[in-house]
Amino acid sequence: MAEKITLKKDTQSIDLEIKDATVGPSVIDLKSLYPDTGYFTFDPSYSTTASCESKITYIDGVKGILEYRGYPIEQLAEKSTYLEVAYLLFNGELPSSNIALDEFRSEVKQNMTLPENMDVIFSGFGKEAHPMAMLTTAVAALSGSYHEGIDIRDKEHQKEFFFNVLGKMPILVANVFNHNQKNANVEYDESLSYSENILRLFFGWKDGYEINPILSKALDILLILHADHEQNCSTSSVRLTGSSGTNPYAAIAAGVAALWGPAHGGANEAVVRMFGEIGSKDNISKFIDKAKDKNDPFRLMGFGHRVYKNYDPRATIIRSQCHKVLESTGNDSNPMFELALKLEEIALNDDYFVKRNLYPNVDFYSGLIYKAMDIPKEMFTAMFALARTVGWATHWCEMMSNPKHRIGRPRQLYLGEKKRDYIPINDR
Ligand code: SDX
Repeated sequence: MAEKITLKKDTQSIDLEIKDATVGPSVIDLKSLYPDTGYFTFDPSYSTTASCESKITYIDGVKGILEYRGYPIEQLAEKSTYLEVAYLLFNGELPSSNIALDEFRSEVKQNMTLPENMDVIFSGFGKEAHPMAMLTTAVAALSGSYHEGIDIRDKEHQKEFFFNVLGKMPILVANVFNHNQKNANVEYDESLSYSENILRLFFGWKDGYEINPILSKALDILLILHADHEQNCSTSSVRLTGSSGTNPYAAIAAGVAALWGPAHGGANEAVVRMFGEIGSKDNISKFIDKAKDKNDPFRLMGFGHRVYKNYDPRATIIRSQCHKVLESTGNDSNPMFELALKLEEIALNDDYFVKRNLYPNVDFYSGLIYKAMDIPKEMFTAMFALARTVGWATHWCEMMSNPKHRIGRPRQLYLGEKKRDYIPINDR
């Protein structure tokens, strides 16, 4: 018999069922609250709201834990590859053999071509267009080529969508990356890994370009770390958009749009801009004061998290990768990295940040690695979207496979005008 919690007001009382999690917080099932009491719950930023049931990713914000299908992120980052993690996220298990993984890889590879006329999408943008504007548009445009005949309830169609969007995203991101470069068309190379191919798609058109294995490994780790993160803003946008039964590529485009925001995936670009604005270690305390000043809109970008009230486990891994990448690119004494380390040290010893449990998050160091790879800061969030596509697509498939799923439609606390009668304009 499920445990219950009783709410009482005056003579009214209602028992609400408690549903237990495999691990982590249980939930109070509120479906009977409004019909039985006439009350809504109020949680505008969904800080304490479980929006769905999911088996994909688990986060413990207090302990700084992140697990994909039960596997700790630290082990996956050290021992796995992005494509193997994509297999794990989608199938729920690690591939049982290299054959299974190779089959998965070839399914992705078969989809690494774009529909005709997609180049028109990119050529429609000027040189100044932000990559995320282009990527949001390009992903939505896929729904123009893949719509008729898609049965979103059909498992096979869901799988086709999953592999198609996973294969298309690196090509779209490469097109966005090379938007202003001529003759930058490079094909996928079977002999290379997924991450080596991404670097080749970006830079392979340059004479004499050679892939630095330290960079391709670091990129693969970044993709693993950014692959999924439970019900974050962009994944929730994909779920809410997809819940209306819309085209799945349109739902993913909603996720790309949400990710662009500086409070979310756009933070990685904002962090490097912030480092540039701070300039030198001498200015750190001035910016720390600005971050603490309630009258100043400035926030320490790359710091703080809605869920992690501890060090973001991904930031720890990225910081150590930073050292390796900067050494391998001859940037050992990289002033921006030194500034980042000093900024972290000062903030983590400042009562304002300690009291609010504000720690570096996934975006604090990631841009330094992309920068060392010669990826421009405007492309950083597109790199995040590239990695997160597997998470978005897996959550969409999980939602569409759930026979109990319904369209998401929150209510509100209405504070507007009470009923009043119309007055003709000449009588006002
Ligand atoms: C991502 O959800 C996910 O999982 C996201 C993500 C993923 O993988 O999908 O992890 C990726 O989006 C990481 C977060 C990237 N964003 C940033 O780095 C932007 C900077 N961070 C902040 O904007 C903020 O920390 C958020 C948006 C990340 C979290 O915002 P919350 O949970 O709404 O925090 P809050 O506003 O309730 O903050 C609590 C207090 C406030 O002060 P008080 O009102 O208590 O006095 O902490 C302060 C805030 O002003 N605060 C900060 C701060 N973050 C919070 N003060 C200065 N600098 C900051 N960065």
